[in-house]
Amino acid sequence: MFARNTHMKPLQRHVAASSFYHLAGKTLDGCACNGLACFAARADDPVRWATASRQAVPVYCLGKCYASPADADHDVRPYVASHSRGSVLLENVRHGGVRALAEYQRRGGGAARLAALAMAPADVVRLVQASQLRGRGGAGFPAGRKWQAMAAQAAPRKYLVVNADEGDPGAFSDRFLLEDDPFRLIEAAIIAAHATGATHGYIYLRKEYPAAAAVLARALDEARAARWLGAAFDLECVIGEGSYLCGEETALLNALEGRRPEVRLRPPQLTECGLYGLPTLVQNVETLCAVPWIVANGAHAYAALGFSQSRGTKLLSLNSLFNRPGLYEVEFGMPLAAVVDELGLGLRRGRLAGVMVGGPLAGIVPPPLLGTRLGYEEMQAIGCAVGHGGVIAFADDTPLAAIVAEVFRFGARESCGKCTPCHLGTPRLAALFGAVQSGTGRAGTGEMAQCDALLDALEATSLCGHGRGLAEFARAVQLHYPGEWSAWLG
Ligand SMILES: Cc1cc2nc3c(=O)[nH]c(=O)nc-3n(C[C@H](O)[C@H](O)[C@H](O)COP(=O)(O)O)c2cc1C
Ligand code: SF4
Repeated sequence: MFARNTHMKPLQRHVAASSFYHLAGKTLDGCACNGLACFAARADDPVRWATASRQAVPVYCLGKCYASPADADHDVRPYVASHSRGSVLLENVRHGGVRALAEYQRRGGGAARLAALAMAPADVVRLVQASQLRGRGGAGFPAGRKWQAMAAQAAPRKYLVVNADEGDPGAFSDRFLLEDDPFRLIEAAIIAAHATGATHGYIYLRKEYPAAAAVLARALDEARAARWLGAAFDLECVIGEGSYLCGEETALLNALEGRRPEVRLRPPQLTECGLYGLPTLVQNVETLCAVPWIVANGAHAYAALGFSQSRGTKLLSLNSLFNRPGLYEVEFGMPLAAVVDELGLGLRRGRLAGVMVGGPLAGIVPPPLLGTRLGYEEMQAIGCAVGHGGVIAFADDTPLAAIVAEVFRFGARESCGKCTPCHLGTPRLAALFGAVQSGTGRAGTGEMAQCDALLDALEATSLCGHGRGLAEFARAVQLHYPGEWSAWLG
């Protein structure tokens, strides 16, 4: 596939960087998923989960969390629905997928590209600012502010990088935008490039999504044949080699450069000094996919959706412990109880012990706090996060200590190794909670003090959101489940 398609490239890397990747030179054939959603649903297919647990190379995650425990060889489509006054993102996905340019255009696609190209770049930037669109990759940073910073840079070459790494176990929204609506992403990338002056773009796609790679290869070819790409702006796709940390934007740029994908120090910001030292706009798939709708319908129509400081819509990936798992588009402001009861129709079995909304680095929301409304600041106020919107429900058949141990095992394995508390501290925390989980005893005073010190160090000194997020996750558990926490750690 790569030899024939000039837009698809395997990751070029220095030999010393190879050891960083879990899937370098490996295929997914026969792999079962080790992701957190599969862990939460392990009782539904113990044999498959046992296969995952025995695997020499764990795989987090295959993006099939609506049918967990999952493996690489089986796939079904999820239930897909929009619960918003305006469906910004899922029209084509709900239609079953639009993978040919002619059909995309027949359904109204491409008009936003023409409208944006007819506008002055600064006006497109203003439009995105007025829409109040925030980054959907996890951090929620205002997209318009980044576009303006990038547009202000004068450089002979500027880059747009689409973050299609979707590493958060429990999330599969980018997967379906990529597989079912590739031209929306390409159209969005062209608009972003026009607005910010980017001349070349890369889609960094995770290896765990082979179907998306095949769809993108064909779509990029078609877009080039139609002269959407090639002249002012070109776009290619690079396939990762299996590393959660490569989703962090500075590590991702190192990966694209073929270097060891450790996190970079900031400042300088990437819009000043990013890929190959040049101005770079990194944006998540879902963030970009909102842009054609914003151009076509206006910034105010977008900002009219949502609530508080979180405007517009958000995709939520509901995992298989719900009665109705699937991919949902909702407006910000929806109470989490409605996510659980009205979208998910409650749990298939057991009593709800907690819900993780933003992936493994977000905290667990306990049942008494399900009145919280979905919003960046609102989730932060309870020590949790919107993250990328992977909603994992835990039933009371999964002990809380087992979830915490699993999150730290994942965290330890995916640490890039640059900061000592994350590199050396997370394996110790994984071991500590593993001991609690396996019932080898309540931790002693020494362990408790060590745990607190490690969490403080992770929170205060981590260079990136991985270490910080792990600490915040543990603190949220400590806050919301004080009984369990003190039973483990005194
Ligand atoms: C450990 C870690 C993993 C991340 N993984 C992803 C990812 O898989 N996909 C993504 O879009 N953003 C991910 N991010 C966030 C990116 O660093 C960055 O904020 C994002 O790509 C910017 O795009 P946005 O503003 O459109 O969200 C991750 C961040 C951290 C700290
Ligand atoms: S916090 Fe962890 S993952 Fe992030 S830079 Fe430090 S060592 Fe790497």
